[in-house]
Order: sequence, then C-alpha cells, then structure tokens
Amino acid sequence: MRIIGVTDYGQMSWKAASLLASQVILKRGSVLGLATGSTPLGVYRCLTEWYRQGLIDFSGAFSVNLDEYCGLSPEHNQSYAYYMRENLFRHINIRPDHTHIPNGMAADPGEEGRRYDELIRSLGGVDIQLLGIGHTGHIGFNEPNTYFIAPTHRVALNPLTIEANARFFASEGDVPRYAITMGLGSIMAAKRILLVASGEDKAEILYRSFFGPITPQIPASILQLHPNVTVVAERDALEAIRAKAPEMIEDGFPNEAAGLG
Ligand code: F6R
Repeated sequence: MRIIGVTDYGQMSWKAASLLASQVILKRGSVLGLATGSTPLGVYRCLTEWYRQGLIDFSGAFSVNLDEYCGLSPEHNQSYAYYMRENLFRHINIRPDHTHIPNGMAADPGEEGRRYDELIRSLGGVDIQLLGIGHTGHIGFNEPNTYFIAPTHRVALNPLTIEANARFFASEGDVPRYAITMGLGSIMAAKRILLVASGEDKAEILYRSFFGPITPQIPASILQLHPNVTVVAERDALEAIRAKAPEMIEDGFPNEAAGLG
C-alpha cells in the first residue's frame, strides 16, 4: 500500500486524476471503476480539462460505477447516473454505451447485482477503482458489518450516511433508504485501488481503516489485504496517520497544475 500525502484538495485531485489518466493512456479498453460524492469532483474536473486540452482520449475506455440509490431514475438530479453525466461523462468523449451504473430502478435488485458483476467480468474486470471513504469507513455503500465477500447487492443505508447525504436533498426524509452497491468482494477484485480523501473529518477513519484491525465493522479495512492500493490524501485527512505512523506517508511533490482541482 502507498499513502501519498499532498498539501491541498487541488493537488489531491491532480495526483489522482494523473493515475487514472495514465491508465487510460497505457491501455485502450481500460475499465475505470468510478465513485461519486464530493471528494472526486476535483478529479473529474482535471480529467475534463485534460480532455479539452487534447491530452487524453476516452473513446476506448469503459467505466463502471460503484453504486446507485434505489428508486431514483437516471434523470433524477440526485441519482448517481445524473452526477456522472453532469460532472464527467458529458464533458469527455467516453461512449455513453461504455458507461455503466447499477440500475436503481431494477425490480429485482438481486438479479441486477448478478447482472452487474457479470458485466464487469465480461469487460475483463476493473483496471483501477477510484474510491472515496465515508465516516463509517464505508466504501461504495458497504456499511459496517457487511460481508467481506459480498458481490454487488442491495443495502440499507446507515443512519450516519443518510445524515451525511441529506445535504444533497431537500430534507433528510427525501434521502433514499436503500442503494445498490458493488460489494466488498467486487471492489477487492479490481486490479488497482485508488482511494482519495480530503478534510480532517476523514482523518480518524483513514487511520482506523489502514492501521487498525481488519474488521467488517470498518469495511474499508479489508483494503489492507488488497495487493495494489494507493491512497491520495491531503494534509488534514492525514492528521491521525501522521501523528501515529508518519513513516508510512510519502510526500507527493507540489506541482504547477495543482490549481486545476
Ligand atoms: C459514492 C461512494 C461513497 C463515497 C463516500 C464519501 O459513490 O461510493 O462511498 O465515496 O460516501 O463521500 P464524500 O466524498 O462525499 O465524502
């Protein structure tokens, strides 16, 4: 595992976007595992900018997203399909039929989960999986006490996650109670993991995820067993790791493009 520490959100975005871009450039047909939430927004802005500058061609790439709310159509402005369209897909030349997100409207979520995992397998697996991390240690929508081997499946959202996501809805009552998410088993099958984190509110959970016991109570802790994990995090999010295991942090060097995030 590598933990790359950078000074601010812009640099975090630039560094993580560089790793995704290098994957797309190195292999036509790359499968990018993508995440939503506030943390990756800067990453998507960097990728959009580099596409505009003619530096990356996404026409051969595929994407699979981690999760989607149950009951929201792709047109709903809080659906993750809408988020991905607005924040990335419509700004770059990825083919719409190459972009995949679990279907939150599926009548049978179990069947949808099986279809989604089969789809990922048929694409050859995820080359690099971008992840954020929730305050509970959730990745995707895998909340505490989930099974480590879970495939894509329907989950009931944790009250803390509902509360954290209420900022995007008119009221907490409007936040969907269920989601379909790639399970920890599906996430662990990715060839490379790239986790981004920003803000001091993520510091403690980052430390517990990567330096505490591997336990279903902290879903992200399973990543300690993945052979190829890179964490890119800015200063505040690394406070707890810096206090207890500073030797584990690699300093990402500053760069001119940091302002892009
Ligand atoms: C979103 C997702 C979630 C978020 C997590 C952190 O697709 O999978 O696990 O990554 O909730 O969200 P932010 O980045 O908003 O703090």
